[in-house]
Amino acid sequence: MSDLISLFNKALQIRQNAYAPYSKFCVGAAVLSSNDNVYSGCNVENVSYPNGTCAETGAIAAMVAGGDVLIKDIVVVADSKVLIKPCGACLQRIFEFADNNTKVHLADLEGIKKTYLISELLPLAFNEEELKQ
Ligand code: THU
Repeated sequence: MSDLISLFNKALQIRQNAYAPYSKFCVGAAVLSSNDNVYSGCNVENVSYPNGTCAETGAIAAMVAGGDVLIKDIVVVADSKVLIKPCGACLQRIFEFADNNTKVHLADLEGIKKTYLISELLPLAFNEEELKQ
């Protein structure tokens, strides 16, 4: 099975663990790191709504905890007619661990439907250079 299909399957699988009693919107994310390790996460909501976390946030936290810091591919899956994209905060989180080839794959329950470079989704990311000004 190709790397991307198995990455999609991982995201689909972890989506089943999403804790989304408030929005009822379950999301799964899976990361393939530059070292070919796979990490995944789901959204975890909270009764105090702003404390909820996105699936991408969970997957990235798992990646860093696992010792990897470069994302080759990230798949995000939800059950939605309109393909969902990572929120602005998660785009910045992906950017933190991205290079020019990092790809963001958007999926529904059937599979990956669209692929973007992170630079296409967040062309004007706040970056380290700006921090130095
Ligand atoms: N959500 C994600 O986990 N990832 C996204 O890319 C978009 C939104 C979650 C946050 C919240 O738990 C629910 O989906 C509805 O916004």
